[in-house]
Amino acid sequence: MKRTILIDCDPGIDDAIAIMMALAAPELEVVGITTVGGNVGAEATTRNALALATLAGRRVPVARGRDAALVAETKRAESVHGLDGLGGARLPAPAYAEEKAPAWEFIRDMAARYPGQLEIAAIGPLSNIAMALSAYPETRSRIKGIHLMGGSIAYGNATPAAEFNILADPHAAAAVFQSGVPITMLGLDVTNRASLSARGLEDLRTVGGRVLTPCCSMLDHYLAAYRTFGRDSLALHDPLVIAWLLDPALVTLEPYYVAVETDGQYATGKTVVDIHSVAKRPPNALVGVELDPDGFVALMTRLLRSYDAPGAPGPLQGLE
Ligand code: BDR
Ligand code: CA
Repeated sequence: MKRTILIDCDPGIDDAIAIMMALAAPELEVVGITTVGGNVGAEATTRNALALATLAGRRVPVARGRDAALVAETKRAESVHGLDGLGGARLPAPAYAEEKAPAWEFIRDMAARYPGQLEIAAIGPLSNIAMALSAYPETRSRIKGIHLMGGSIAYGNATPAAEFNILADPHAAAAVFQSGVPITMLGLDVTNRASLSARGLEDLRTVGGRVLTPCCSMLDHYLAAYRTFGRDSLALHDPLVIAWLLDPALVTLEPYYVAVETDGQYATGKTVVDIHSVAKRPPNALVGVELDPDGFVALMTRLLRSYDAPGAPGPLQGLE
């Protein structure tokens, strides 16, 4: 039986790879994509999600969510993802329009349609999900799990303490971790090791393909940004969530209690992970601690290549 997945995202180059992987996977039924302002604003993340589904040849409903954080100041990551969010990649124009309902209503509706079955791959700031869980509390018990890319046990990437998705809406993240919905947290401790070297990117380009080739040109932009951080490889944060859904053996998880610092002096947006049970609180998340990096790259490559398999759908015809 297929797993029922909703992707909440801010595409974003690594979100784009994650979406293309998920839409290629026969084991996943992607029932919708909700978008949030994060790497770039919600106008652009919504258009990008529609264009990516169009490229995949799949008319997956896309519902636009919040542009801004619930409380915190807006943060963007255009220096990493480009002004358009996808590093200037040429994608087909969207072949269909976004949903009329906002993301938080769409999440509520999907949870009601698939009670106990719906799993959310959360790969952007958690604003939409926090809105849905607080405005429609009945939604909480209907969601099977929230599997998020965010936070870390150790260090940050947006500040010394905080990872971008959590820093971008710390109040939303705190509410999600306290919601009682089962949570899997794949943070920088594992996603930074889901990496691709410059050489690995060249190998992928050589393999090529109708989806792999535009993915490589997005990743060129992404790698250039990582080089400015002094690193000659890039981290595929968001794709790891999809890879783990398909092959849980790729990541080792430990149950921990996780709190989020919302208003600190130095550590706003930090996920405080109680690895030694100092707080004596029951775990509220399964946290990724180890990764099989080669298995991850092999799975990602296989999925992106599968768009060239005989019988695979081609892109949808654009509206523009
Ligand atoms: C996360 O932040 C965003 O820039 C990426 O898309 C990913 O979701 C990594 O910290
Ligand atoms: Ca993201």
